[in-house]
Amino acid sequence: MTQDDLIYFKGWFADYTRSYYTSDREDQKNILLKVEHTDNVCRNIVAIAEGSSLEGNQVRLAETVALFHDVGRFRQYTKYKTFRDALSINHGLLGSKILIEEKVLQRIPGDEQKLIIQAVKFHNAFAIPTVLDSTVGLFLKLVRDADKVDIFRVFIKYYESPREERASATAFGLPDTPEYSKLMLSCILNKQVASYSNIRTENDFKLMKLSWVYDMHFKESVRLLQERNYVNGIIGKLPQTEDILAAMEVFREYISQRLYSGQDK
Ligand SMILES: [Fe+2]
Repeated sequence: MTQDDLIYFKGWFADYTRSYYTSDREDQKNILLKVEHTDNVCRNIVAIAEGSSLEGNQVRLAETVALFHDVGRFRQYTKYKTFRDALSINHGLLGSKILIEEKVLQRIPGDEQKLIIQAVKFHNAFAIPTVLDSTVGLFLKLVRDADKVDIFRVFIKYYESPREERASATAFGLPDTPEYSKLMLSCILNKQVASYSNIRTENDFKLMKLSWVYDMHFKESVRLLQERNYVNGIIGKLPQTEDILAAMEVFREYISQRLYSGQDK
């Protein structure tokens, strides 16, 4: 694909998302949240791809995957008024269907179309499916990392803004009480990615976000998180109890190791 293709896709995306704008303030806030998120994921993916020595066409393809990764969110939100897949629809799968339905990718080679569609389809899978070929795998790793890096930004912004300005769909409307579950903490201690199904409070949500670092593939992504102080930003918003502090020590040690080992996963 060419640079012109990328420019065309960006124009298409801008028009498409604008068609979902609404006069309802709350809904508009949630729609704009995803437009802004997409913009940031695009920037993150270019930084991660270039920081991991990818070039030219691969960087353009990566940026296209980022641009379309959440294209399903707009129809999802408009129809179900939530970003929670479990309560509505799988937004990755929906996004891949929209790209096909709208014939957005027609102007680029068939193998590149397929690659982008597959990457959008599986970007939100709990783990990367093993059946996919290695090129799709590479772009999936890139978009999943770039997505996670930006989700940290979204959450920090959410917690730092006054309650009445928070976009309601960000933290899934969970109770903001001092509790947190031991299961979430054990995920941090065991270096496991926590799943959505076990979250009960906003603190669980914060712990789950942190656990996502264990699923980051590129060292460059972890470096971006550190550079922007996102990890400390979330840790600072957890209750500073003894067991949380102990888990955070393990967590910080893991991050240092990733940064010093110089390896991608
Ligand atoms: Fe997504």
